Amino acid sequence: MRSLPLRSWKERLLYTPQAEPETRSRIRAVTDSLILHVHPAKVPVSALRFTYTWALGGISATLALLLLVTGVLLMFRYEPTIERAYTSIQQLETQVVFGSLVRAIHHWSANLLVLTTFLHLLRVFLTGGYKKGRAVNWLIGIGLMLLVLLFNFTGYLLPWDQLAYWAITVSTSLISYVPVIGPTISRVALAGPEVGQGALSNFYALHVAVLPVMTTAALGYHFWRVRKDGGISRPEREEGRAERVTTMPHLVRRELAVAAAVIAAIVIWGMLQPAPLAELANPTRSPNPAKAAWFFVGLQELLLHMDTLAAMALIVLVLGGMVILPRWDRHEENIGIYFRSPAGRRSALLGALLSIDLVPLLVFADEAWIDLPAMFPAWPTLVSNGLIPLAGALIGLAAVYAIPRKVFKANHSEALVGLFSFLMASLVVLTIIGNIFRGPNMALVLPF
Ligand code: HEM
Repeated sequence: MRSLPLRSWKERLLYTPQAEPETRSRIRAVTDSLILHVHPAKVPVSALRFTYTWALGGISATLALLLLVTGVLLMFRYEPTIERAYTSIQQLETQVVFGSLVRAIHHWSANLLVLTTFLHLLRVFLTGGYKKGRAVNWLIGIGLMLLVLLFNFTGYLLPWDQLAYWAITVSTSLISYVPVIGPTISRVALAGPEVGQGALSNFYALHVAVLPVMTTAALGYHFWRVRKDGGISRPEREEGRAERVTTMPHLVRRELAVAAAVIAAIVIWGMLQPAPLAELANPTRSPNPAKAAWFFVGLQELLLHMDTLAAMALIVLVLGGMVILPRWDRHEENIGIYFRSPAGRRSALLGALLSIDLVPLLVFADEAWIDLPAMFPAWPTLVSNGLIPLAGALIGLAAVYAIPRKVFKANHSEALVGLFSFLMASLVVLTIIGNIFRGPNMALVLPF
């Protein structure tokens, strides 16, 4: 094999060793063949650009792998009974060599995965990665996002401390608000009227068996689909005549570098910051405030401002919009370009700024002054506190879509970028308000 001449780091990354076929080891051949089941033999240079994908899919995959490995290790010590769960975690933390670190890596990877999956979804949306035959993968992706949330949700209960017990109690009571099916889902999930041994057994089985199988299958299909769809999206002008390089080592080396950086960062963070463990769950002493798991607190915040049926209708509409997105937005130009165009960029900025300004203002106004049921005492609360805010929200969303069309002459796809940015920013703002600015009795407080 030729030795690597001294070059810049960029050239080193792009350098392909010229190994003679007969010198390749068997292991290398097997590894190559495995890699080529997931990746094509060659990839366009543009697909390697870090600032296009931000490696968010790869980072999420690395975290999923870390979770699998640490999860299996945790299973050796964890005992899923309400008498032993908390003690087994305490023993793991204090008596098992590296037990605390393994738990910390599992905990932080799980929380980070929610963020990186969400950011990956944003990236795919903003670059139009769901268009041109990639609709199926977009749908699989939505399924993956839900699976990641379910993983975190079921894992939350397992330590059986006060934090876990009450977060799951609050979250499952939110689920029971879903019309028609909600109460049944909540009762089946808890295997009874409240969080107890039935719930712990159910959550454990879902967490260590059902969800891993479903996620592995969905992830396998997701990766295969990326390959089947001709690699990741890229600008139209590059299709067909893009400069291509071999997957090995160009793509694989980058993937390994990102994976190594993620693992190193999580291990160091896990050493500095152990996973939290509050006192043993006490079903008779509810903390104040009792909040849902952090990733559902945005939903809990929404429920503080409108009737549950109206809030659920809004969420179903937004989720439905995401599901039909590949059919709703069929503009195929500008794929692979962030925000589509200058008009799309302005729409996104407007959507995000409107959300950052308006949502906190509305939350504060609702807390301090607005009391719709008192303003319309003759009307049922479903109308005063449900239909009225829902109609207000829908009119607001229509305006967020219409303003860029009128002001920036944005096309349908570019205006949708504004609408989507508004919705995603609102989810983030509500989550921040609920997690940081809500104190005892869920009143608004300053965190400092
Ligand atoms: C555990 C969660 C997930 C993992 C590990 C994952 C992994 C990946 C990877 C490695 C890629 C290749 C390109 C890249 O790195 O960006 C990719 C592409 C893609 N992902 Fe995901 N993904 C996940 C969740 C999602 C979600 C939530 C969505 C959207 C709802 C999604 C939709 C897509 C689509 C449409 C592509 C093709 C994008 C393009 O061609 O530009 N994925 N995913």
